[in-house]
Amino acid sequence: MFKEEIIGVLEKQTKLRKEEIENLIEIPPDPDLGDYAFPCFVLSKHFKKSPNEIAIKLASEIKPTKNISEIKAAGPYLNFFINKIKLAEQIIEINANFGKNKIGKGKKIAIDFSGPNIGKPMHVGHIRSTVIGDSLIRTYEFLGYSPIGINYLGDIGLHIGKLIVAYELWLDKTALKKDPVNELLRLYVKFCSKEKSLVQEGFDEEMQDNEWAKKAKEALKKLELGDKKTEKIWTEIRQASGKAFDRIYDLLNINFTETTGQSQFSDKGRQIVMNALEKAIAKKEQDGAVYVLLDKDHKKYIQRSNETASYITYDLGAAVERYKKYKFDKMIYVTDFRQSAHFDALFSILKLMGYDFTPKMVHLPFGTVKFGNEIMATREGQIILLEDVLKKTIEKANEEIKKRKTKGDAEKVGVGAVKYIILKNEPASDVQFSWETALNFEGNTGPYLQYSYARASSILKRAGNFNRNNKKAKIKQLTKEETSLIKKISDFPEIVEKAGKQMNPSLIANYSFELAQIFNEFYHNNKVIGDKEEAFRLRLVQAFRTTIKNSLWLLGIEVMEEM
Ligand code: ARG
Repeated sequence: MFKEEIIGVLEKQTKLRKEEIENLIEIPPDPDLGDYAFPCFVLSKHFKKSPNEIAIKLASEIKPTKNISEIKAAGPYLNFFINKIKLAEQIIEINANFGKNKIGKGKKIAIDFSGPNIGKPMHVGHIRSTVIGDSLIRTYEFLGYSPIGINYLGDIGLHIGKLIVAYELWLDKTALKKDPVNELLRLYVKFCSKEKSLVQEGFDEEMQDNEWAKKAKEALKKLELGDKKTEKIWTEIRQASGKAFDRIYDLLNINFTETTGQSQFSDKGRQIVMNALEKAIAKKEQDGAVYVLLDKDHKKYIQRSNETASYITYDLGAAVERYKKYKFDKMIYVTDFRQSAHFDALFSILKLMGYDFTPKMVHLPFGTVKFGNEIMATREGQIILLEDVLKKTIEKANEEIKKRKTKGDAEKVGVGAVKYIILKNEPASDVQFSWETALNFEGNTGPYLQYSYARASSILKRAGNFNRNNKKAKIKQLTKEETSLIKKISDFPEIVEKAGKQMNPSLIANYSFELAQIFNEFYHNNKVIGDKEEAFRLRLVQAFRTTIKNSLWLLGIEVMEEM
């Protein structure tokens, strides 16, 4: 809020870009030095003066306003003091729209996220795309954009070929009825173990030929040619899987604007491959496989030798169809970083073909979720099912609630805990997942934040029908804790904007934690009910409650009035 005003002033005086100033501004280590500090080093070149001289010059040129009370030079730093009373007056006026923005007005952002593969269970590794994507959707909505959530199911591809072969050979019908997720997993793992001895690690799997890979490709070909028996198996696999996915989405409370399968883009993808051949952007190998030469020796295959489509064929089709349908201003693909080369190739090929929406597309890669030292790999059967993790955390939440004899909704607590573990980590970093962290509800965790919200709610409830718009809440002086709480709350709008720009929900997650800590410190040291500052402090508690509620909403974490 006031920080934005300071940035505005600096923008005028220094001619630096807003983002640059935003990144440079610091919070002085000691509040007595100022509320915000701008280091003048970067200006040396432009002004042809030392940073210290520039700080003095700027301090004399910038005039105080009603919100910025003082500007002082301190060595190479330009320090700003804000009028905290004025800020406090604004903070206690905030409402449910606090942090919302119109920067995205009229702009559409499509987000391709979650996209699990049919036939394979969702494991802990999959939750990242799902939860990050959902949080981005919420963030863009908050910032005024029109977000479009796309769940692009892996309903076709080599893994489907493998499953069909395994289904025909080894299906246990009763097991499929009883526990479809595990039976399909068993089939997939069995196929992979047969194939494993023949596969060369580290090579493009799709390009390898061995007896089992051949069978899988043949099954896929049959499916593409519309073979009835194969289609029937495919439908059964899709239905069993789809049901399991929906259970998880329900539990996570995650919705999509559209759910489409890769297979729907088969025709469009092939048409693009044909076009690429016609335009001589793509070439055909002797065996019929089609590739685009991306680099001197980087052939990217866009269609397999037996003319079946591959992963990228569908993505080519999907990108073009989606642009036609949505005319998006931006399209974000949220996947594991191991798909970075795939998306680079996708964007390069679309660009070569002259699709001018290509620069609107970005890949948001995230690191792996590791369990112990293992990266989860479905083919080895070495996975922890997402559904199990969610169930177990909910169970643990239930125990905690009983133990403490408190109220609270175990599902909201458990799901919130899992989501928060994922979101507090930057997308680019790896997440170390363990049962201890998942089941720990203290410290930097989702339940701690939910608890802080409930605490604020209960203070307000105890205050009874206090006047939420009490104009008599005159502010004369602020305590140290009040000041830091007010300042922290005032950072919220900027944090949301930054999280949207950088596609990084962890900024909101970690902000929420710091906010909750500051609030708890405030409450610990400042009596609220019964104090002579009660009127003002209640409104401050209310402002905190609104802010933490909004932050948690952006993370997809539900709140409870009592916990
Ligand atoms: N199904 C893929 C997987 O499980 C993710 C899909 C990502 N989206 C895309 N348009 N390729 O890795």
